[in-house]
Amino acid sequence: MSHKIILDTDPGIDDAMAIFFAFQHPDIDVLGLTTVYGNVPVEMAAKNAITLCDLAGKNIPVCKGVGMPWVGPESSYAHFVHGDDGFGNINFPAAKGELDPRSSAQFIVDMARKYPGEITIVAIGPLGNLALALRLEPELPKLVKAVSIMGGAAFVRGNVTPVAEANIWNDAHAAEIVFGASWELNMFGLDVTNACPFSPEFLTQLKENNQKLGGFVHDAAQFYVKFYSQNRDEDVCFFHDAMPIAHLIDPSLFELQTGHGRVSTDPLNRGQTSIALPNTTASPDWLNAELVNVATKVDNERLTKLYLDTYKL
Ligand code: RIB
Ligand code: CA
Repeated sequence: MSHKIILDTDPGIDDAMAIFFAFQHPDIDVLGLTTVYGNVPVEMAAKNAITLCDLAGKNIPVCKGVGMPWVGPESSYAHFVHGDDGFGNINFPAAKGELDPRSSAQFIVDMARKYPGEITIVAIGPLGNLALALRLEPELPKLVKAVSIMGGAAFVRGNVTPVAEANIWNDAHAAEIVFGASWELNMFGLDVTNACPFSPEFLTQLKENNQKLGGFVHDAAQFYVKFYSQNRDEDVCFFHDAMPIAHLIDPSLFELQTGHGRVSTDPLNRGQTSIALPNTTASPDWLNAELVNVATKVDNERLTKLYLDTYKL
């Protein structure tokens, strides 16, 4: 079964691995890349997205989106994780492609109107483009098939603060708007992405399976592995962003639980994603919140095989 998706992204090294994974799998039809700030400023995210499409030989729209959070000052970005260039400082030559003239939010709305009920928006960065798209088109939840995000931490600690994961923390007010919309929302947070570490041998295998795209990920991820391996006994990294795409291809890889989801926007708990599972509260504040399908378990072995097999195609 083929899935039409829009990938909303802040590339970013794990974004790059996810984008190439989506491009290569026959069940995924990527209609376009919509970029957002997060790992890097939005201008760099857009330029990097064009480079990834060029390297993969994909001629699809690339749009530039929001560069600031819904509320508050400019982000400090995550160059300490993804490098000054967003690709692990490998100084890969930037491609010369043109951006689509539409903003990311406008592209999302246009595609949803063109393919009503068919598109899954896969958001693997902060959620400002989706929040803005909801403001442009209040009927958007009726026009999209589903929203699947890499973001949040439901029952585990965060990676930016003790309670918040980076994509949600970066734009908590936008996330609150997205979690408050009446669409199917599937959340692949640190509950599953931090439970699936990848070794340097995995990177070597990706490169062997696909010199061009796997080789790019291998090279760019050397910086990323150094960041993730601090204070660990062995070298490791986490490919957070590919999981929502893997779920579309094979839902049996994951176990999801459904609960009422809330996003904190207060200064101390900014970006916390709290999920009230069934029969755990009588509070209307929670029972009136929209439902979220939260991934709580993943089959690491089968997921890893899917990634490696797809890069070999
Ligand atoms: O917390 C991990 C998420 O933040 C990933 O999407 C990574 O690319 C960064 O955007
Ligand atoms: Ca990302």
